[in-house]
Amino acid sequence: MKPLRVLITGAAGHVGSSLVYRVAAGDLFGLQQPVILHLYDIDKMLPELQGEMMELGDCAFPLLKDVVVTTEIDEAFGDVDVAFLVGAFPRKKGMERRDLLEANGQIFPAQGKALNDYSNPDVRVVVVGNPANTNCLIAAKNAPDLNPSQFTALTRLDHNRGVGMLALKLDAYVSDITKFTIWGNHSGTQFPDISHALLKGKPINDMVDFDWYKDEFIPAVQQRGSEILRVRGMSSTVSAAICTIKHFKSWYYGTNDNDWVSKAVYSTGNSYGIADDLYYSFPVTCDSEFEYTVVDGLEINEFCEKMMKISEQELIAERDVIRHLL
Ligand code: NAI
Repeated sequence: MKPLRVLITGAAGHVGSSLVYRVAAGDLFGLQQPVILHLYDIDKMLPELQGEMMELGDCAFPLLKDVVVTTEIDEAFGDVDVAFLVGAFPRKKGMERRDLLEANGQIFPAQGKALNDYSNPDVRVVVVGNPANTNCLIAAKNAPDLNPSQFTALTRLDHNRGVGMLALKLDAYVSDITKFTIWGNHSGTQFPDISHALLKGKPINDMVDFDWYKDEFIPAVQQRGSEILRVRGMSSTVSAAICTIKHFKSWYYGTNDNDWVSKAVYSTGNSYGIADDLYYSFPVTCDSEFEYTVVDGLEINEFCEKMMKISEQELIAERDVIRHLL
């Protein structure tokens, strides 16, 4: 079987390195498909990448055919079938969101061009590095030969956070909860929506108090990343890596019947009145290899519409800041 090439940018960082070992172990494509890992980071992280390569060798993963360690963008993106764009400029103390957008804006045009010029034309891309939705837009716009539907950004971590919190509240198994949605941006404006969510097929809306939902649940999901950072002084790592794999697997293998997942996908053509030309998180089903469909025709009440619009407006404002990079 021909090995598939999987690129992880920021492979020396916390999320990237958690991802590396899971991909090497066969978590993406199952236990038959060999992979070649492309580990890419900035120059000063080269020793970290080299150490990672040695450890990968020591694990003797049966499906890991080869490892390419590089700080050269053309080599990193060359012929890759899957690209996880994790590497990004970290937000430092005193930095405004605008500064972060500008800093990361320098990274993602080059990576979009590299995907366009060097990768397998059928490449599938998952953007994790923040601000993930807008970085995804920048990368996609700089890859004119690729279809915008080949690009997605990660909101599965937010989705799974919400499902986990609901399960706790309802004393249920997460697997009994379906049709929960994250709308919008992977940021504090994201909208965790339970208006269609079900527990064993019954509406969750009828089981929880609206004030709890509005005043506790929604802020808890929106602020979960900051809360983890506050509690342990470090942002999400393993959960981010695992949810990146889950995001990818639902895209590749398909979603469960009678359920959906949340993914930030290209908004153009959506039926919810969200502006075109954004990467916005929607409820999405996937039927066959790498096809996805935004779930259509959900009833949206006034509260939900307002919340969905707040996140849309934030994404439009982010796009305005980096418009010169598109
Ligand atoms: P980290 O700081 O540990 O690692 C980032 C890595 O990216 C570093 O190794 C750094 O050298 C590398 N890097 C910086 N500029 C680069 C460039 N131009 N090209 C390639 N690599 C570059 O950060 P961590 O914790 O691994 O997080 C990575 C990103 O993922 C951050 O932006 C973080 O905010 C984001 N994130 C997103 C989540 C989501 O749900 N969408 C969840 C968790 C993290």
